Amino acid sequence: MITILAIESSCDDTSAAICRDGKMLSNLVATQSIHEQYGGVVPELASRAHMQNIVPVVGQALAKAGVTLEGIDAVAFTQSPGLIGSLLVGAQFAKSIALSLNKPLIGVHHMQAHVLANLIDDPKPTFPFLCLTVSGGHTQIVVCNSPYDLKVIGETMDDAAGEAFDKSAKLLGLPYPGGPLIDNYAKDGNAKRFPFPEPNIPGLNFSFSGLKTSILYFIQKGTKEDPAFVQKNLVDICASIQNRIVTILLNKVKKAASETGIKQVCIAGGVSANSGLRNALTEMGEKMGWQTYIPKFEYCTDNAGMIAIAAYYKFLQKDFSPLTVSPTARAEW
Ligand code: KG4
Ligand code: ZN
Repeated sequence: MITILAIESSCDDTSAAICRDGKMLSNLVATQSIHEQYGGVVPELASRAHMQNIVPVVGQALAKAGVTLEGIDAVAFTQSPGLIGSLLVGAQFAKSIALSLNKPLIGVHHMQAHVLANLIDDPKPTFPFLCLTVSGGHTQIVVCNSPYDLKVIGETMDDAAGEAFDKSAKLLGLPYPGGPLIDNYAKDGNAKRFPFPEPNIPGLNFSFSGLKTSILYFIQKGTKEDPAFVQKNLVDICASIQNRIVTILLNKVKKAASETGIKQVCIAGGVSANSGLRNALTEMGEKMGWQTYIPKFEYCTDNAGMIAIAAYYKFLQKDFSPLTVSPTARAEW
């Protein structure tokens, strides 16, 4: 029996999870609402909030799982990438517990963990599978040949998909993070009404900066003619923006599937909560004869459960980190 305590603190969520033999016993997240008033994550405030949250969150994760610290076989943490002050809180905390219990320490790559979140619940994809990882900081297409062999075959050249949602929302006067709000308004809108352009980017890479500029000009032009333009057309604008972001993402996934011949497609990251993306992926999967997988919402946004499952596979290979390990803001795969 392998029981792992995992900690995730790469950005503005403090999370702890307990996993036993690859099954999640608990996965708790303390979100930090303080950033809302600033329109984005303030790194220094995030570090301070992690310091306050980490002890209670780990305590609650242990209690919910019915496990004591002595019952832990290894301690895992997010090593990179992320905000360095945030990462340091989780890393130092994990190291202290590992040292005091004399148990192995396992540093985990946050983006690889997002992909491996697809291995938490049944039905699971079999190898190889493709994963579209879409979050506030990343947009990647990954080929996953095994838990130990993940390769990025496409990524964004500028903004991430989550940023495309959040920055568009900001242009519409919506609060941060605007992604979920656009999703909500889009449900009542006509996605075909405003056809925003699709960028012509070669290969499997993405770009969202052109879309952002075209939305800006579109809003400027509309409000010049009618100051209430956005207000009057909000649901159609949101549906049209969402539709364009989703088609940009899925057209590249389609290309990746055709080039690799892989027919199992997963999504991960906070933007995979988007209902337009989920529906369109399912529809495209049915049309293309793919098997599609979408993790439970709690394993899509930043969470320690995904760190725990990645650490479980590392444990099986005895791939442990020394106590001298340091987190890094950026990371190679
Ligand atoms: O993975 P995540 O929780 O954090 C990291 O960035 O690592 O992703 C956060 C991003 C934000 O940009 C947020 O607006 C977006 O995910 N997001 C959504 C939805 N829910 C979260 N975007 C569109 N539709 C949603 N329903
Ligand atoms: Zn993330």
